[in-house]
Amino acid sequence: MKAIRRTKISDLLKSTAFGTEVNVRGWVRTRRSSKQVAFVALNDGSTIKNVQVVIDVEKFDEEMLKLLTTGACLSVNGMLVESIGGGQSVEIQATEIEVLGECDNTYPLQKKGQTMEYMRTVAHLRPRTNTFGAVFRIRHNMAYAIHKFFHDKGFYYFHTPIITASDCEGAGQMFQVTTMNLYDLKKDDEGSIKYDSDFFGKQASLTVSGQLEGELAATALGAIYTFGPTFRAENSNTPRHLAEFWMIEPEVAFNDITDNMDLAEEFIKYCVQWALDHCMEDITFLNNMIDKGLIERLRSIVDTEFVRLAYTDGIKILEEAVAAGHKFEFPVYWGVDLASEHERYLVEHHFKRPVILTDYPKEIKAFYMKQNEDGKTVRAMDVLFPKIGEIIGGSEREADYGKLLARIEELGIPMKDMWWYLDTRRYGSCPHSGFGLGFERLLLFVTGMANIRDVIPFPRTPNNAEF
Ligand code: 4AD
Ligand code: MG
Repeated sequence: MKAIRRTKISDLLKSTAFGTEVNVRGWVRTRRSSKQVAFVALNDGSTIKNVQVVIDVEKFDEEMLKLLTTGACLSVNGMLVESIGGGQSVEIQATEIEVLGECDNTYPLQKKGQTMEYMRTVAHLRPRTNTFGAVFRIRHNMAYAIHKFFHDKGFYYFHTPIITASDCEGAGQMFQVTTMNLYDLKKDDEGSIKYDSDFFGKQASLTVSGQLEGELAATALGAIYTFGPTFRAENSNTPRHLAEFWMIEPEVAFNDITDNMDLAEEFIKYCVQWALDHCMEDITFLNNMIDKGLIERLRSIVDTEFVRLAYTDGIKILEEAVAAGHKFEFPVYWGVDLASEHERYLVEHHFKRPVILTDYPKEIKAFYMKQNEDGKTVRAMDVLFPKIGEIIGGSEREADYGKLLARIEELGIPMKDMWWYLDTRRYGSCPHSGFGLGFERLLLFVTGMANIRDVIPFPRTPNNAEF
């Protein structure tokens, strides 16, 4: 086969170099044939669009043509010509074809229109479909947008550890990390496991959040963000929970809760606008195939001011809804940790736009949040989104050493895990705020996909760590 430099399909579709010979490589999506011509739709992942390869059957070996099956990988040399058929701008009239990888009829993606559940069982191959190709291209673009947003604002990307000995959220939902022989655990006289001989010499886990270390960095570099995997051993089998998910956590010295809300709103709008500006081909496909209201919802978010409301006022609205006959699965009362149905009621029914709920009861929020003067609430802020519920959780932090220490003691958090965190409040403490955006929840919103398992390549959920 003649050596011609490969052109990506995304570039080829923009090309007007008609009459030149090009090389494309990719995987067969579909093949149609008549007696004289075969049409192969080839995709190489650079774009959702296929390029059509037109094959004059007489000019090629019959045995080779039999190998042009769905899923096979080809290298094609051919003439770039303007397409006369509808849909595509260019096509390739094949001069030479090499089958790089054959694909027989056991290929799991042969049939179109498989369920999402089925696609999860073939997560190793599903990126080769239109839907998942679109989702993962958008995922990349969103990651890039996030780094760009913070970099342009002068934030530093700070790497917090994955393995940690502290439970940031204090919810006891950590996965342990150990090299101990689980068949022969050493215990002390009280029957407690002895961790001094374990790898780290103490009990260690996968982090649930990089925030605590992020706070250390913010009180040194001014404004930082983390962007990494986080882990939660919560037994939540819902369309919005993963055991391994990616989180973005900005933390900013001298920001109060209002600055924090401003940052969160600007950040999320920037990401959505980025998707509209850079991923429209993929979004249009998802809008047509998955979620008809997607584009409209994305556009409306960037133009809408988010509602800012105290938790107490949110509860009043929900109680009024109950009084007026609205049925929730879970009860509503002051002090309740809002369920997704409550959050979505506020966003989708009552306000019809995103809501930032603030000043939650301290009992349902983490120890590090700034305590309000009322003694009952803390300066928390959750951003609630249509279809998603909570997309961001954050707060102004308790900067007062005495108050923070009292809260840590009140909750019985072991000081051996927290001394270094408290040092930020002992030495040059400053007001500061931050939040965490669940990357996959953002992707749910931006792609219109219904289940969080379908916006991460290899989902980890209870009873599932395949691939
Ligand atoms: O509200 P969370 O638990 O807050 C924190 O972890 C803070 N340390 C953040 C901070 O202030 N720096 O989690 C933050 C966000 C949630 O709003 C949600 O979007 C996402 O992380 N999240 C999950 N996403 C997928 N699966 C899970 N199990 C999630 N738990 C939280
Ligand atoms: Mg939260």
